[in-house]
Amino acid sequence: MHHADIKTLPQEEDQLFRLLRQLDLMPDGSQRAMATALNISLGRLNTLLRGATDAGFVRLSERNSTDKRQRVAYTLTLRGAAEKLRLTDHFLTRKFAEYDALHAELTGTTSGLAPFKHRTKLMQNNLAPIPELYVSYDSAQKMKMEAADLTSHDLSPRQICDLELLMNGGFNPLKGFLGEEDYNGVVENMRLADGSLWPMPITLDVTEDFAGSIELGQDIALRDQEGVILATMTVTDRWEPNKANEADKVFGADDDAHPAVNYLHNQAGKIYLGGPVTGIQQPMHYDFRGRRDTPNELRAYFRKMGWRKVVAFQTRNPLHRAHQELTFRAAKEAQANLLIHPVVGLTKPGDVDHFTRVRCYEAVLDKYPQSTTTMSLLNLAMRMAGPREAVWHGLIRANHGCTHFIVGRDHAGPGNNSKGEDFYGPYDAQDLYRANQSEIGCEMVDFKHMVWVAERAQYEAIDEIKDKDDVTILNISGTELRRRLAEGLEIPEWFSFPEVVKELRRTKPPRSKQGFTVFFTGFSGSGKSTIANALMVKLMEMGGRPVTLLDGDIVRKNLSSELGFSKEHRDLNIRRIGYVASEITKNGGIAICAPIAPYATTRRAVREDVEAFGAFVEIHVATSIEECEKRDRKGLYKLAREGKIKEFTGISDPYDVPTNPELSVETENVDVDNCAHQVLLKLESMGLIAAE
Ligand code: PPS
Repeated sequence: MHHADIKTLPQEEDQLFRLLRQLDLMPDGSQRAMATALNISLGRLNTLLRGATDAGFVRLSERNSTDKRQRVAYTLTLRGAAEKLRLTDHFLTRKFAEYDALHAELTGTTSGLAPFKHRTKLMQNNLAPIPELYVSYDSAQKMKMEAADLTSHDLSPRQICDLELLMNGGFNPLKGFLGEEDYNGVVENMRLADGSLWPMPITLDVTEDFAGSIELGQDIALRDQEGVILATMTVTDRWEPNKANEADKVFGADDDAHPAVNYLHNQAGKIYLGGPVTGIQQPMHYDFRGRRDTPNELRAYFRKMGWRKVVAFQTRNPLHRAHQELTFRAAKEAQANLLIHPVVGLTKPGDVDHFTRVRCYEAVLDKYPQSTTTMSLLNLAMRMAGPREAVWHGLIRANHGCTHFIVGRDHAGPGNNSKGEDFYGPYDAQDLYRANQSEIGCEMVDFKHMVWVAERAQYEAIDEIKDKDDVTILNISGTELRRRLAEGLEIPEWFSFPEVVKELRRTKPPRSKQGFTVFFTGFSGSGKSTIANALMVKLMEMGGRPVTLLDGDIVRKNLSSELGFSKEHRDLNIRRIGYVASEITKNGGIAICAPIAPYATTRRAVREDVEAFGAFVEIHVATSIEECEKRDRKGLYKLAREGKIKEFTGISDPYDVPTNPELSVETENVDVDNCAHQVLLKLESMGLIAAE
């Protein structure tokens, strides 16, 4: 990373570094103790402290002591903590240079030395502690108060994941969110400004307003979503990135069908801020605390267990027998121990939630030979960037003390692009990894495609089966597994472990036991409420799941009484209905909604809210406006024609006819019972209701 040139002499810099480190470790230490620890005189210490105070690295504070000379204490400031992190790097660089000089003097030659960058890699063995960006616990307590006065940025869930791995060394050698020069290097050729390999832009995106309120050189506080200060950052860079270029270079295409490109364009702020980070505390996790490890905790564990070689398996899916077999083989091949290292930060939208997955992993862990294998959860926000992501994953695993890494077919693949084709070739990830392997510092073990050979009742790597034509080869794809779960069909023992299947079935019961939403849309007086009521009664007669009717009038009375009929108010009304329906769906109930819902984009938004938890069945009650006006059950059309009701849907306000509803019902010359029955048949064909 790029640093400003230091003007001080090396010796002074050393002393300043040692002083700041000492203050971080013992913020309340006496001056005498400090002088002893630094091996300097009290006089020299005073000079140093004065200099550091003037530079804003150290602050004087009161101290409870009866001894007059001990009344004041020196504390590290946020600035000082940042300076300490920066000097750590300088200190190391200089020590290595001194070592080079000594080497040359002793051997009379400078040749034969590997380039500095590689040498530091070699010297930094996979089990030695890795640098973190945290200040000590005691300093953190003091700095929190100081940081409370700073301008704050509230981190997004993805930024929290990134920050955690920056602070704990998972993203080593990064020292903060990327500055502009590093960003350009990473986007264009996967390298930081200093030349080291780094494939993924780790950026702090913010709104234009926020960026405009910051001056370069300013410290800002980074807070989690509850407002807890996790870190401070000195803003050294601010720029407007070329997002289309980032999408092209990093993700391979500027196509919103890629989840990370979609995030980039539709969620991330317009401006990036960059600068070094000073860690105050880790993001809080309340779930599976014992299963989460920092890189240094894993390194310590491997040291303690005497594991010299460790192969990591990255995953965002539940493990089945084939995975168990392949990971076990990978470990044997590399003669290494095995780390199951699942991602629990952010994965691909639609994945099995991490709570369920971790329960599944715990069940599978018992299937490995004792003390060969361990599992640790990684709070990474994946980008699904295929080849670049594989290289990134390898660097992260190297930081976590692993020596080997399993890379599969289509590693971290994002699914299809908007033309229905793959974003990356199936082996692009392996190729890019192989090309960069020596710099990653974590050797690739390529994934074997394991299949079940029925005659021999065992898993075998497909490319090692000699008698392919004479045996029965079985495999169940991810899509097929999801179908079987959704329909409550059998999942054979050879495919997965009973414990895993049980967990998956618990979370994803068959569709006929899940919640869902039926969403009627149509003109006022089209018959939505009548059909909805008939449907509700029929569903209640069948029993099994609670049914709630969110009729237009009921909602306007109970949830939206303050709203009128402007576009803005109608949208708010529909979003509220969508929110309630999605909660009902999540909790296994049936929500029947019957508003006009005239706008297609709003209906689509509600669909997305609901589909996160269950099926969304859109039903267009297609009664024509002429027929509705002819019926005019509430006399409203007459008033609308007379201009006594403004913005009346179909008369003086728009209605977007649904283009792709699950069902469209005609009500002219059809009785209500029949309409409701058509809906029931639709629900049955979608597997949402089933005979017991
Ligand atoms: S929306 O657009 O979805 O928010 O409308 P909704 O909540 O379903 O409310 C529609 C009912 O409100 C009455 N009403 C109007 N409808 C449309 N436009 C205007 N300007 C209007 N003013 C009042 C009308 O009775 C609708 O009743 P339904 O239940 O649809 O027959």
